[in-house]
Amino acid sequence: MSRGVFITLEGIEGAGKSTVVQWLGEWLRESGRTVRVTREPGGTELAEQVRRLVLEHGRERLSAEAETLLMFAARAIHLDNLIRPALAAGDWVVSDRFTDATRAYQGAGRGVDGAWIETIATRVHAGLAPDCTLLLDLPVAVGLARARARRGPADRIEAETEAFFERVRAGYLALELREPQRIRRIDATAAVPAVQAQVRAALAPWLTGAGRP
Ligand code: TMP
Repeated sequence: MSRGVFITLEGIEGAGKSTVVQWLGEWLRESGRTVRVTREPGGTELAEQVRRLVLEHGRERLSAEAETLLMFAARAIHLDNLIRPALAAGDWVVSDRFTDATRAYQGAGRGVDGAWIETIATRVHAGLAPDCTLLLDLPVAVGLARARARRGPADRIEAETEAFFERVRAGYLALELREPQRIRRIDATAAVPAVQAQVRAALAPWLTGAGRP
């Protein structure tokens, strides 16, 4: 059996990822595919515990390096217990964030050494990368206004400055330039049906089987 297709969604806060992820999961299921919709950090019981550790406000300082290692700890657990088994079974995996988030948030946003991030990434998931990454892109001011309007109190990362999210967005756009085949930019300022149309177009090669690994 060939392995399943691994799709990830990325973007800054307020890009509308969660809505797209839920819709995409349903849409793929309606077309007869077995789909696991998941998220990072988290996705399994233990990895969700790591998510709480890394996102909750605490009294102790959490360095950018510690934050990076916790993201990868959660990812390693998620890979072993959900992503790899699901792909091996031929299922589609749709994950709300993966390693590009570490490159953008910890690397570009916090200034963590990119080479170090790649070393850990290679150790944690050598030979496995998303087949297609949908980058939901929009101006930072628009994303933050949307996010503030709909959520409760900000977590440790949501509470960051606008300048931080500008660096994160620039980091994502630099990744798209580096890997244009894998990373597809979606205009997230568009209305929901237009966003869905862009996602369907980006995934077309995978749906027809032309892009299969
Ligand atoms: P989300 O549910 O909004 O995607 O929240 C996850 C938060 O964690 C978000 O602020 C981005 C952040 N994050 C990182 O900083 N690095 C990572 O590697 C991942 C997966 C998420």
